[in-house]
Amino acid sequence: MHLHVLFHPKPRENHIRPLACQVFSSYSQILMTKTLSASFTQPHLLGIETLSPVEIETLIDLADQSVAISRQVKKKKTTLRGRTQINLFFESSTRTQSSFELAGKRLGADVMNMSVGASSVKKGETLIDTAMTLNAMKPDILVVRHQAAGAAELLAQKVDCSVINAGDGAHEHPTQALLDALTIRRAKGRIARLVVAICGDVLHSRVARSNIILLNALGARVRVIAPKTLLPAGIEELGVEVFTRMEEGLKGVDIIMMLRLQRERMAGSFVPSIREYFRYFGLDRQRLDIANEDALVMHPGPMNRGVEIASEIADGPRSLIQEQVEMGVAVRMAVIEAIIDNRSRTNS
Ligand code: NCD
Repeated sequence: MHLHVLFHPKPRENHIRPLACQVFSSYSQILMTKTLSASFTQPHLLGIETLSPVEIETLIDLADQSVAISRQVKKKKTTLRGRTQINLFFESSTRTQSSFELAGKRLGADVMNMSVGASSVKKGETLIDTAMTLNAMKPDILVVRHQAAGAAELLAQKVDCSVINAGDGAHEHPTQALLDALTIRRAKGRIARLVVAICGDVLHSRVARSNIILLNALGARVRVIAPKTLLPAGIEELGVEVFTRMEEGLKGVDIIMMLRLQRERMAGSFVPSIREYFRYFGLDRQRLDIANEDALVMHPGPMNRGVEIASEIADGPRSLIQEQVEMGVAVRMAVIEAIIDNRSRTNS
């Protein structure tokens, strides 16, 4: 049981508090952490779909407690000392990979980044071969990003260690949805009953899918706004309201989540032109004014400035984009720690 160290150090004035009170407070902290970690019982994190609302909230609560560590001068914990984390990225990534790397290092783990360009994947080695080779090196955590939906789940069945899905095709990106939820909860104080609009390339977006599932599970009202060509068939079945015009969809919205136009995944022509796309679906000042007065803006990155979002909005006072990046490290620390803690408990 290691998770109690997630709590902040006791405040300095503690020495003047009566002993009984101190004892009770540390006891209740340990108890609370035990309850928190006991609510997350999964050996892997493969998607949001397989989590219960209690498990989702547990991870968000744990992540909230991890934010303080990254704000300290010395950002190092020891809970993962002696453990090995491998980040296996078959698709390029800047923020997700660096965020997982920092999260592992801040927990004290040895972290290795497996870069696709330098690996044997280019020589035709399969996903499973690569994973089995890494598995033989006895990692504790394998963080995997792959262009095929279901890749993380497949690996989880083959390897001995815990697998964390860092994005599999257009399927899921669970840590992104968790960090988005933490960002929203810290900014708005809650998630339930908020109106969240996810806008743009929903068709190719694992971020949209994980977010829709998570936000619905926690009681938000989710909308998607996109041209028909960028909406997957049957999206309504995920429990969203569908709009094809920003002017209608943004009315009464609390959170606007913009998505990157994923041109690398577009085989045909899904939008007439970039200029036209921005004109009808880009978030600029006029469109932001349609949403609620206190509406906030998010984007998972990387952003196409001037394509789905205007720079003045991305860098403006209502943007949560930098907070999202900060929360990314906290969420990944919490997920890694919860999974390892869970594994140690079930193995003992
Ligand atoms: C997202 C991804 O890779 O799914 N980005 C990210 O995780 N930082 C979204 C995207 O690529 O547009």
